[in-house]
Amino acid sequence: MDTALLESTANFLVGPGRGILAADESNGTMTKRLESVGVESSPETRREYRASLFAMPTISKAISGVILYDETIRQNAVDGTSIPDYLHARNIMPGIKVDTGAKPLAGHDGETVTEGLDGLRERCAEYFEMGARFAKWRAVIRISDTMPSEACISTNAHALARYAAICQEQGLVPIIEPEVLMEGDHDAVRCYAVTADVLAATWDECKVQGVHLPGALLKPNMVLPGKGHSTRSDVETCARMTVDLLHSHVPHEIPGIVFLSGGQTEVEATAHLNMMNNMGPHPFQLSYSYGRALQATTLKTWAKNRDDVSVAHKVFAHRCEMAHLARSGSWSANLEV
Ligand code: 13P
Repeated sequence: MDTALLESTANFLVGPGRGILAADESNGTMTKRLESVGVESSPETRREYRASLFAMPTISKAISGVILYDETIRQNAVDGTSIPDYLHARNIMPGIKVDTGAKPLAGHDGETVTEGLDGLRERCAEYFEMGARFAKWRAVIRISDTMPSEACISTNAHALARYAAICQEQGLVPIIEPEVLMEGDHDAVRCYAVTADVLAATWDECKVQGVHLPGALLKPNMVLPGKGHSTRSDVETCARMTVDLLHSHVPHEIPGIVFLSGGQTEVEATAHLNMMNNMGPHPFQLSYSYGRALQATTLKTWAKNRDDVSVAHKVFAHRCEMAHLARSGSWSANLEV
C-alpha cells in the first residue's frame, strides 16, 4: 500500500476552502433528476449537463474533487479531452463511485446491504489507470422503531471496510459513506445514537481489515431529526450535536469529514457546515461532498438555458462560493440571494 500517495490525496481533497462535488448519480437517479426538469435522459444529455458543470470558470476555487459515475469517467469534457484528464488539468481530482447499489438485505424487510465487492480490485485498477485517485461506497441505514437491525449495521460495516482496504491497495482513497437516512419520524437524539453505533461498527471492521485511516475520508450524515418528526433542529443544535458525535466517534487520524447533504436544502447544508466550522478547531477538516446541495438550483437553471451555459454557471458559482465560505465559517445568510 502506497500510504504516502493515499495521505497526500486525502489531504488534497480536504485542502483549505475546498471540498468535493458528488456528481456520481447512477443512470437511474440521473434520469429522474433530468426528467424532473423536462430534459430527456440519455448518455449525451447526461454528458452535456455534467461537462458543463465541470467547465464552470471558477470551479477550482471550491472544488478539489468530483465523484464520477462509470459512464461519466469514460466521457469527454467540453474541449474534447477525457473528463478525468480535464479535471486533473483544472487541479481537481477525479473520483469514482464503485459500489453497485443498495440491495435488499435477506431476512430484513426494508433494509439494504450495499454490493459491489466482486471484481472490485480489477475495477479499481482500471479506474486508477484512467486517472481516478479516490472512490466512494455508500451504505444506507434506515431508522424506524425496529431498524436498523444488527445485521444491517454489521454487514454494511464489513462491506465498507473491505471496499476501503481494496481501494487503498490499488492507490485510491476510499470515501467511507455510511448514510443514516433522514426518512422517518425519529428525533435527533435517535439519529445521533444510530449514527454512533454505525460509526463504531465501521471503525471496528476497518481495524480488522487493516484500513489505513490517514489515507481515508469519512462521508457521514449530519445529526438531524427525521423528516417526519414534529420539530426541526435549529442550526446551532444540529451543528453542536454533529460536532460532538464526530469528536467522540471518529478516530482522529482521519484527515477529513466530507458531509453528504442527504435531502437538506442548499442553504441548510451550507449553514450547518458553516456553524460547525465556527465551533472549531477540530481534529479533522470539516468539508463537503454534496450532490443535491451543490446542484439542485443549477440543474433547474441549466435545463431552462441549455443554449447559454453562462446562466447556470452563475448559479453554480454562487453555490460553490457559499460552500467555500462555509469551510472557514465565513458564510452568512445575507450572502444568499
Ligand atoms: P447528496 O448530497 O445529494 O446527499 O449526495 C451526496 C452523495 O453522494 C450521496 O451518496
